[in-house]
Amino acid sequence: MKPFDVYSIFDINIVKAEGLKLWDNDGNEYLDFYGGHAVISIGHTHKHYVDSISAQLNKIGFYSNSIQIPIQHELAKKLGKISGYENYNLFMCNSGAEANENAFKIASFYNGRKKIIAFKSAFHGRTSLAVASTDNKNIVAPVNQTENVIFLPLNDTEQLESAMNENISAVIIEGIQGVGGIHVPDVEFLKKIQALCLKYGSLMILDEIQSGFGRTGKFFAHQWAEVQPDIITVAKGMGNGFPVAGVMIDPTIAAKKEMLGTTFGGAYLACAAAISVIDVINNEELIKNANEMGKYLTDYLKTRPEIREVRGKGLMIGIEFHENAEQIRKNLLFDHGIFTGFASDKKTIRLLPPLCITQKEADIFINALDSQLKSLKIEKVHHSEGCA
Ligand SMILES: Cc1ncc(COP(=O)(O)O)c(C=O)c1O
Repeated sequence: MKPFDVYSIFDINIVKAEGLKLWDNDGNEYLDFYGGHAVISIGHTHKHYVDSISAQLNKIGFYSNSIQIPIQHELAKKLGKISGYENYNLFMCNSGAEANENAFKIASFYNGRKKIIAFKSAFHGRTSLAVASTDNKNIVAPVNQTENVIFLPLNDTEQLESAMNENISAVIIEGIQGVGGIHVPDVEFLKKIQALCLKYGSLMILDEIQSGFGRTGKFFAHQWAEVQPDIITVAKGMGNGFPVAGVMIDPTIAAKKEMLGTTFGGAYLACAAAISVIDVINNEELIKNANEMGKYLTDYLKTRPEIREVRGKGLMIGIEFHENAEQIRKNLLFDHGIFTGFASDKKTIRLLPPLCITQKEADIFINALDSQLKSLKIEKVHHSEGCA
């Protein structure tokens, strides 16, 4: 047997990592400006993280959700405190898609409705309703197709107003659209969703799977807009690589026995991983660092005329070029040893480095991109000379 061949991969075998640094099996060093799909929050192999998971594994690695698991309460308390949602409840699961599936179920159980509003360019995962609410027909299997999801353009208040009614169970929106190319929802748009959900008894679901856990310079991206969703989904940065996800639920939404459930969700190791992530975010002031380093990188990027637009907040940055940016991304990786991310819009490169990035590491990226942009200019001159 061999792995099912569904991924386009680079021919690189990483065998060691620390902070932002990665090394391959030939000893070549790389810098991680992608965090493996925005997953690495506190840095690779952080000592406190490794120690916490190892210590937990030496005590007990797993038991099912049929006994007391006090570490779940410890995590819920810490997550409530760091996020400012101390009175919310936490349902734990294992991946972002699963968190969104559960969020939809909670909303539907709560108001007895079926319809969901999602937004164009959204990405919410690859299972059932999560993929049905993802704006990419290529990854929706016939069995996942449903009439229950309505797609609207992001930031179009008028269309939102006319689509909302008493049949809408939930509106789901990313804190900042990630895979779609780093698109930030307007503050007024988020406020309008909240107001319309309140008016019609629908629930507002904030997918903070990519934009949460301090990445944007606040714990959650939606906190820049000061809205308060009914449900918030988290994953990725929560575990710094350990598979863990969660659904944070407004206290007015009551739990009923057996309405949700999972074998692995909330297991000891996942809780230990997530608690250590929160501890490190606090102890090392990583949200502040995300703010400062994000501004440092963005200030530079905005000075470059070769770049069409710079979008995002904190360390969730989209660099949109005038043309397809695939070659620049490859050159950054193979000529400069820097991993970056792509978006569904091929002109945009995504930067999602771990939140512990230093100014020195930011400068390495800036110098590398600088040399790429210069050669882009030279290529353009050659190209136009050739044409003339
Ligand atoms: C905003 C958002 N939601 C959901 C998901 C799905 O998460 P997972 O791949 O853990 O299922 C992703 C993954 O990229 C994401 O970016």
